Amino acid sequence: MKIHNVAFELEVYDALDELHDADHKLMLKAIAARKNAYAPYSNFQVGAALRLENGEVVIGNNQENACYPSGLCAERVAVFQAGAKYPGVVIEAIAISATSLNYQVNTPAAPCGNCRQSISEYEVKQKQPIQLLMMGEIGTVMKCNSIGDILPLAFTNSFLK
Ligand code: THU
Repeated sequence: MKIHNVAFELEVYDALDELHDADHKLMLKAIAARKNAYAPYSNFQVGAALRLENGEVVIGNNQENACYPSGLCAERVAVFQAGAKYPGVVIEAIAISATSLNYQVNTPAAPCGNCRQSISEYEVKQKQPIQLLMMGEIGTVMKCNSIGDILPLAFTNSFLK
């Protein structure tokens, strides 16, 4: 028996204005994207923004449904939109920001498991890591270098032959 320790690098910034220019701009787009979230059931509004290698920014926000499971998270709205509009264009980074009408979100919102899996599909496909920037409404911002870092042992197309 062998034990493997899995570790990854997580950058933690005290505030938004500590981010480098390109990341700062992307997070501002994610914050702006929250405004059009449709979240009447949870009151939890999430915005996501993708930076593509062609310079485009693609945004998404959560879209809820009276039949709860029929809604979709901000991150998947964004990555599926990028896949639909710019197929084959590399996604460099995704920024996520969350707010709530019920309380002040002061810790970074990390993508749910389904979104990690969906983003991972594009990372595997493009053979280039997708950086991830996460924040709540105020306070700390976290950054990791690859979606794979937060989805270790991912299920990928390598199993499907
Ligand atoms: N949500 C996201 O949009 N992204 C996440 O990573 C976590 C959760 C949304 C889904 C739902 O509309 C609301 O937040 C509460 O779960």
